[in-house]
Amino acid sequence: MGFYSEKVLPRIIDKVCAMGEAKDLRARVCAGLHDEVLEIGFGSGLNVPYYPAAVTTVHAIEPADLGWKLAGKRLAASSVNVERSGLDGQSLPLPDDSCDTALSTWTLCTIPDVAAALQEVRRVLKPGGTFHFVEHGLAPDEKVQRWQHRLEPLEKKVAGGCHFTRQIAKLVTDAGFEITELDVFYEKGTPKLAGADSLGVALSP
Ligand SMILES: C[S@@+](CC[C@H](N)C(=O)[O-])C[C@H]1O[C@@H](n2cnc3c(N)ncnc32)[C@H](O)[C@@H]1O
Repeated sequence: MGFYSEKVLPRIIDKVCAMGEAKDLRARVCAGLHDEVLEIGFGSGLNVPYYPAAVTTVHAIEPADLGWKLAGKRLAASSVNVERSGLDGQSLPLPDDSCDTALSTWTLCTIPDVAAALQEVRRVLKPGGTFHFVEHGLAPDEKVQRWQHRLEPLEKKVAGGCHFTRQIAKLVTDAGFEITELDVFYEKGTPKLAGADSLGVALSP
């Protein structure tokens, strides 16, 4: 990782990911998490205030040291035990069937081999465990999609490898999950090309 991705980008993410509708969406997506939770792309811990009381431990997976450092105040204010259990969602240092629920918020856009990461989430989740996600991806409208394809190369450069055009529901089902809840919408206050969100819950069979 270079200076920009190590020292600058985590601060930008900490601010940008706290804007607009994000708080309400974090509260919605975290509802139902319980017991041992896997969170991939923990960032600066913006979900920490929304973990339900039923959560005992969160296994946070995050490559950016600065993100973890910025989470300090949120972690200190929370009664949930959060451990930085790994650095890369593509290869989780956790045993099979070890977590009850899993969480990803605006992270599947960035992980290079997203299919591998979703397979890892499935491996680590107990059978019957649920994966909670809110992610931006390919917009439902063709006009927006054209802009997403045009601007994706630039986005990848400035936003740490972030893609605009990933098909979130398809990726989740291709990994073998069964989606039980899904809401697709444009996030208020965010340009459509970066705000075509899928919020849902998927069951690991
Ligand atoms: C847009 S940020 C979202 C952060 C956080 N989930 C949130 O909602 O505020 C994407 C996060 O994914 C992390 N990330 C990038 N590559 C990753 C990987 N291979 N495995 C896990 N996380 C990764 C980044 O460091 C960053 O914190």
